Amino acid sequence: GAPVKADIGKLEPGQMIVVEWRGKPVYVMHRTAEQVADLPKLDGMLKDPNSEISDQPAYISDTGRSIKPEILVLVGLCTHLGCAPKFRPEVGAADLGGDEWLGGFFCPCHGSKFDLAGRVYSGVPASTNLVVPPYSFEGDNVLVIG
Ligand code: FES
Repeated sequence: GAPVKADIGKLEPGQMIVVEWRGKPVYVMHRTAEQVADLPKLDGMLKDPNSEISDQPAYISDTGRSIKPEILVLVGLCTHLGCAPKFRPEVGAADLGGDEWLGGFFCPCHGSKFDLAGRVYSGVPASTNLVVPPYSFEGDNVLVIG
């Protein structure tokens, strides 16, 4: 299929949009600097913190799983059985672990939890991180998925 383009110039820090690509929802989130800085703190609570067994392009490798630190791009399908995880950015959400929850994605089907890099927590059904699709940028504001 053809690549899909999305103008993310107006995507504010903290916001997420959904872009359809090959019939799949792709989550595009603008992380704040604080959200990016907090990611390494979670490594000890995750199944695959360095994405060694998870699906992502070879050209990303850092903790944030992204080309630009602030822009997160994920296939919005749970790696357990394919439900759409909910965007749950609120730090300290009582139903998601309280103080240990720094924002992320929660799958309502069987309770899998993912951080703001799509990395899966320990103790949930999903075993790999949310997939990062192939993508690139045209200029500063146009995201190209595929
Ligand atoms: Fe997401 Fe099962 S489909 S936890």
